[in-house]
Amino acid sequence: MVEAEQSRELVDVAAGGISVVNLVKSYKGGKVKALDGVSLSIKPGEALGLVGPNGAGKTTLIGCMMGFLRYQSGEIAIDGLAPDDLVTRAMVGYLPERLTFDRWMTGRDFLHFHHELCGRPEKLRVHECEELLRRVELDPSAWSMAVKKYSRGMLQRLGFAQALVNKPRYLLLDEPASGMDPHGVLVVQSLLRSLRQDGLTFLLNSHQLDQIERSCDRVIFIQKGKVVREENLRAREESVPRTMCISWLSYSDEVMVDSALVGRIATELGATLDQFSQVEANASITVGSEAECARLIKAMVEAGIPVTRVVPELSRLQKAFVDEMSKGGAK
Ligand SMILES: Nc1ncnc2c1ncn2[C@@H]1O[C@H](COP(=O)(O)OP(=O)(O)O)[C@@H](O)[C@H]1O
Ligand SMILES: [Mg+2]
Repeated sequence: MVEAEQSRELVDVAAGGISVVNLVKSYKGGKVKALDGVSLSIKPGEALGLVGPNGAGKTTLIGCMMGFLRYQSGEIAIDGLAPDDLVTRAMVGYLPERLTFDRWMTGRDFLHFHHELCGRPEKLRVHECEELLRRVELDPSAWSMAVKKYSRGMLQRLGFAQALVNKPRYLLLDEPASGMDPHGVLVVQSLLRSLRQDGLTFLLNSHQLDQIERSCDRVIFIQKGKVVREENLRAREESVPRTMCISWLSYSDEVMVDSALVGRIATELGATLDQFSQVEANASITVGSEAECARLIKAMVEAGIPVTRVVPELSRLQKAFVDEMSKGGAK
């Protein structure tokens, strides 16, 4: 059996970033194959999303990248170093899927403890920890409360603060918004945005596709331990058909908006009217390209329809996910 030690055979040392090549990891003496030849790379400064159904191997992949799990074969390099190298550990932040805390500690003590553990200067301890607690928007009234009294969302915020305490260059996040209330989800969203601006490189495993779509440059889909698809989220796809949901003011007196009118405008431009609702004052129309979408909106407005909103029915990532999962189910 090849042990993790072999990952010291470095991959692409000069390039920096994270590189995973042909990673194979099984549990229970080979009975459960959690990762079946996964390869990926993350460039410095890039944000990579990781999506896939439960049991696909996402947490296992992150565990291997953190150097916590031994794998049977393959290679992992972070800035050219093995994941369990102390130099690597100093530059990687990690938010685990299941957080475990010393529950008797207060949130502030917990963070101070980790600040000390990672060797940050003592004279910065109070200031840096407070700054982090504010950044994750943990209410100051909770700072001196025992962690055992924290709600799931508060624990997650504290976990996020801990993941950042060593001022990491790389961040591996395993479902950072799980268990958070809507406000917590927004906090994670804005944290991810500001971390991106700081130039952090991250891997984000999340079931929240909108969070991935907003925060990541690229996304990989993993299913049954294999990467089955990759999407560049920053590339514009000008000529991909999409179904748009178009809404208009229901109380317009300028024109009677009915399915005949909307259907005629759509057909004239080569688009297809899929659904029309007089009550909701909206319609679903499939357009062949972004340019066609723009022509459609213009024609609708020129016909006197007071258009208020045009949104894709499924975001690009949702569509890719639905496609991929339906393929997986058909296998
Ligand atoms: N410690 C473990 N022992 C045995 N099997 C495990 C262990 N951890 C994960 N697995 C199995 O490995 C597969 C991948 O799990 P995991 O990496 O947790 O997936 P995900 O994070 O995508 O939901 C699943 O089949 C899971 O049951
Ligand atoms: Mg998981």
